[in-house]
Amino acid sequence: MSQNRFNISEEQLTQLAERYDTPLFVYDVDQIRQNARAFVETFKQYDLDFQVAYASKAFSSIAMLQVAKQEDMSLDVVSEGELHTAIEAGYPMQRVHVHGNNKSRTVLEMAVENQVGCIVIDNFFEMALLEDVLQEKGQTIDALIRITPGIEAHTHDYILTGQEDSKFGFDLLSGQAEQALNHLMNHESIHLQGVHSHIGSQIFETTGFEMAVEKVFDALKLWYDRYQFEARVVNLGGGFGIQYTKDDDPLPLSQYVHTLVSAVKSSASNHELKIPEIWIEPGRSIVGEAAVTIYEVGAIKEIPNVRKYVSVNGGMTDNIRPALYDAEYEATILNKSDQPIEETVAIAGQSCETGDMLIWDLDVPTIETGDLLVVYSTGAYGYAMASHYNRFPKAAVVFVENGNDQLVIKRETVQDLTRFDMSYE
Ligand code: LLP
Repeated sequence: MSQNRFNISEEQLTQLAERYDTPLFVYDVDQIRQNARAFVETFKQYDLDFQVAYASKAFSSIAMLQVAKQEDMSLDVVSEGELHTAIEAGYPMQRVHVHGNNKSRTVLEMAVENQVGCIVIDNFFEMALLEDVLQEKGQTIDALIRITPGIEAHTHDYILTGQEDSKFGFDLLSGQAEQALNHLMNHESIHLQGVHSHIGSQIFETTGFEMAVEKVFDALKLWYDRYQFEARVVNLGGGFGIQYTKDDDPLPLSQYVHTLVSAVKSSASNHELKIPEIWIEPGRSIVGEAAVTIYEVGAIKEIPNVRKYVSVNGGMTDNIRPALYDAEYEATILNKSDQPIEETVAIAGQSCETGDMLIWDLDVPTIETGDLLVVYSTGAYGYAMASHYNRFPKAAVVFVENGNDQLVIKRETVQDLTRFDMSYE
């Protein structure tokens, strides 16, 4: 269970809730480092060049990026905000990769001015915009083109769509990817290093990745034969699954690396192509299981023979995933783990939205107002997707390492919420 990997004691969590108040995200930094090392160290077992880029969309903050940097990871950013955070965190810009399907002129200018390591070009519009920015600044940049290999993977299912109906990337079948390649090969200012492919998120099986590698190399073979284009880099994206509940059975992170490396090696050798540098960009698998959210129980409402609603002082404003994706989580009540399970309750958020439920059926000991509820595996796409709906201030975030805690994102106040409001009298 995810609780087993999260290594901060109930006693310490209780102290942290007292000190920093709730709702509170608590990250186990040791686990973040272990996850990063599982990828990096496994790649090191092979005699090849690689980059493991942390997909900062999963959780971006200056402290988080400092940890990623210490762990020798590259960084995937998708916006001015994520790039700005990288700059503030002192990230080496050569290790930063810029993504996004609608990159603004501003983000491209920022990327070029800071000489980021790579821009992952998503579409023709962006390509023209980038050319313009580079010309204006008299600079050059390294780039990959994002291709959609026609494979969509979702958790345990993957589907072969042939022609990918997606807002991301250049489609292979229609020839758009080849058109992009033609335009960028031998380009004056955009130096094409290779291709990028990302097939989805929270994927448990390796089949989808193996299929994607095959598709990518089929394209590379064609492009080599037709244009003598040789990819120096193949970026295979992220998407490695984690454990939210005991029904989730993810592979060890190292297994994804082994699978990708052997798929690349055999595809390259089958097509008589050189083995390129392999890049991946995990987000969820770096931080997802490494954090919990602590809430305080407030109103409890029992509808006889129907359900008991237990409301907590957070919900969709700090974790939209249950409302948005029907995502499931496990939770326990702090300091009651020695008590027998007495009831099944529904954990409700506090926003004015019927769908603001965190967990529909949670087995708990007798639950009371004032109890502290810990929801596990909230480290990815929780704080990152937080909102100000109903003008609830955002929660605080604490890092714990070697038993020591440190506040890394302050709790917002209601004053913060009106900071940008202008009066209209
Ligand atoms: N690379 C690209 C190009 C991506 O689009 C993503 C995620 C990643 C890497 C990182 O994927 P990960 O390793 O985290 O699965 N909000 C959703 C997940 C959206 C994922 C978007 N792209 C959720 O909460 O499940």
